[in-house]
Amino acid sequence: MPLEIVRNDITKMKVDAIVNAANQSLLGGGGVDGAIHRAAGKGLLTECRTLGGCKTGEAKITGGYNLPAKYVIHTVGPVYKDGKQGEKALLESCYRESLALAKKRGCETIAFPLISSGVYGYPKDQALKVAIDVISGFLLENEMTVYIVIFDKAAYKISEKLFTDIAEFIDDNYVDTHTDYRRESIRLCAPFSASAGSFTADHCEYKEISVEDDLDTRIKQIDESFSQMLLRKIDEKGMTDAQCYKKANIDRKLFSKIRSDIHYKPSKTTAIAFAISLELSLEETEDLLRKAGFALSHSNKFDIIIEYFISKGNYNIFEINEALFAFDQSLLGA
Ligand code: APR
Repeated sequence: MPLEIVRNDITKMKVDAIVNAANQSLLGGGGVDGAIHRAAGKGLLTECRTLGGCKTGEAKITGGYNLPAKYVIHTVGPVYKDGKQGEKALLESCYRESLALAKKRGCETIAFPLISSGVYGYPKDQALKVAIDVISGFLLENEMTVYIVIFDKAAYKISEKLFTDIAEFIDDNYVDTHTDYRRESIRLCAPFSASAGSFTADHCEYKEISVEDDLDTRIKQIDESFSQMLLRKIDEKGMTDAQCYKKANIDRKLFSKIRSDIHYKPSKTTAIAFAISLELSLEETEDLLRKAGFALSHSNKFDIIIEYFISKGNYNIFEINEALFAFDQSLLGA
C-alpha cells in the first residue's frame, strides 16, 4: 500500500527514513523532535550541529544513528497563527522537500509524523489533509511507500462534520450480526438481497426467488472473471493501468499479478480499492466484488463506510482511508 496511516511511535519505524518535526535550530526540542533525539543518541545532535539550522518549509538529512531508520530528515513546519499567514504553503513544502530528499537518497520507505500539529498548533484535521494531498500527489508520479504515523489516537482528527456524517450513516444502515435480516429489511423497506429472495425498496414486497432461477442468473454472469472485468473497466474509463493502480493505492507488483492471471482472486479491500479507483457505482461495485467472491454487507462497518463514500460520489481513496482509520477499520489498498 503506497500510502498508509499507522498508529505507532515513529522512533520504532523500520523504514529507510523518518521525518522529524524540528525547529529552525535543529538542536532538538520536545514532542517528536525530542523523542527522535533521545532514541537516536548523541551522534544525531553532533551531526545536526554541522547543518547550520533549517528554514521553515525546508528539509535537511542526517544519519539515523541508533534508530532503526537509516536516515532522519529534519523539516521545520510553520507555527499556525490564523491560517492566513501562508502556513498551508509552508506545511506543503515540508512534505514536498522531505519526499524530494528521500527520493534523492534512494529511499523506498519513509515515515512522517503529523508535522506542526503539536506544539506548532496546526489544526489536526487540516494538517492531515495537507499531508495526504501532498503525499498522494507525489505517489502519482513516484514509487515509494509512505507512512503517516499517528502517535496518539486522540491527536488524530478527521473533520468533525465528516466524522458525524459517517457515524450517522453507519447508525442508519448498520445491521448487527444477530439481527433478523427479514424483519430488519421490512422495517427499513430497504433494498435487501439474500441468496433465496429479495426486497425492492419501492414497494417493499418480499418476492421468493427460487434458488434455481437465482443460481441460473448468477451462473450466466460469472463468464467474466474479476481480472477480466477490471481490465475491461480500465479500458472503458480510458485510464492507463498505472493511473488505475496508483489511484487505488495498490502497488505495481500486485497489479501485474492480477493482469497476468485471469483467475486471480484479490482480497476484498483490494477489490474495493479498484472499484473506488474506477469510480464505479454501487451496483457496478457489487458486481466487481461478486466476481472476486465478495459482497458489501450491512453488518460490516467497513462496507458501510465504503457505501457512504460511493453514495456521496467521493472516490478519493486517501480521504476514505483517513475515515476508515478514524473508525478503526482496515485501510483500502494492497
Ligand atoms: N511518534 C510519532 N508522532 C509523534 C511522536 C512520536 N514519538 N511524538 C509526538 N508525535 C506527534 C504529535 O502527537 C503531533 O501530532 O507529532 C506531531 C507533531 O507534534 P510536535 O512534535 O509538537 O511537532 P510540531 O507541532 O511540528 O512542533 C515542532 O515542537 O518539539 C518541538 O523542537 C520542536 O520546536 C519544535 C516544535
